[in-house]
Amino acid sequence: MSPTSIRLIEPSDGPALAGLRARDRHAYARWLPAQPAEFYTPQGQAAVIESLLASHDQGLAWPGVVVCEGAVIGQVGISSILRGPFQKGFLGYWVSSLHQGRGHTSRAVGLVLRIAEDELKLHRLEAHTQLENLASQAVLRKHGFSPWGIAHDHFYAEGAWRDEVFWERRLTGGPAT
Ligand SMILES: CC(C)(COP(=O)(O)OP(=O)(O)OC[C@H]1O[C@@H](n2cnc3c(N)ncnc32)[C@H](O)[C@@H]1OP(=O)(O)O)[C@@H](O)C(=O)NCCC(=O)NCCS
Repeated sequence: MSPTSIRLIEPSDGPALAGLRARDRHAYARWLPAQPAEFYTPQGQAAVIESLLASHDQGLAWPGVVVCEGAVIGQVGISSILRGPFQKGFLGYWVSSLHQGRGHTSRAVGLVLRIAEDELKLHRLEAHTQLENLASQAVLRKHGFSPWGIAHDHFYAEGAWRDEVFWERRLTGGPAT
């Protein structure tokens, strides 16, 4: 088993992420949002990373990368953090097709759950998967996420609206006082 770690995204991750995203642009078109051509370039990724880090600075997100043997192989993160009576965030992830099926996403999600609980003190995480994305659903189930509903025509990908399963995972963080 190759090791998996996660860390906060850095400006220097742009070229590696652009390379991975460009490589899987068509393979992952069914699962990830469509993006403009610029997104798949180092310059485009530099702008994305700047925006992600600004969200992190504002306490709205924890944008991470998945690392194996010193190389970035994907992304895992928490976005849309809501405080007040919610104390929740939205989980997202992808791993390069070069590294699929080796448990990297499962381990990365386990690690980001710890950050959500210990560092961000969240009370709840949410996630969405397409009905047909069984690998992603397996990752969520492994980490105690439960499906609580189906949203019809929720996500537009590869020329059609797709139904999605909504998932929830309760954590131990308390409400803001
Ligand atoms: C989905 C994705 C994140 C999985 O990453 P990964 O690193 O291959 O995941 P892991 O190896 O940790 O675990 C995959 C699990 O799915 C299972 N799986 C894979 N294909 C499956 C299938 N067709 N049916 C059922 N289970 C499947 C594996 O057996 C494994 O479960 P196990 O460990 O209990 O055996 C990755 O393929 C990806 O990035 N896909 C494109 C983007 C995406 O879909 N992101 C998620 C959007 S919700």
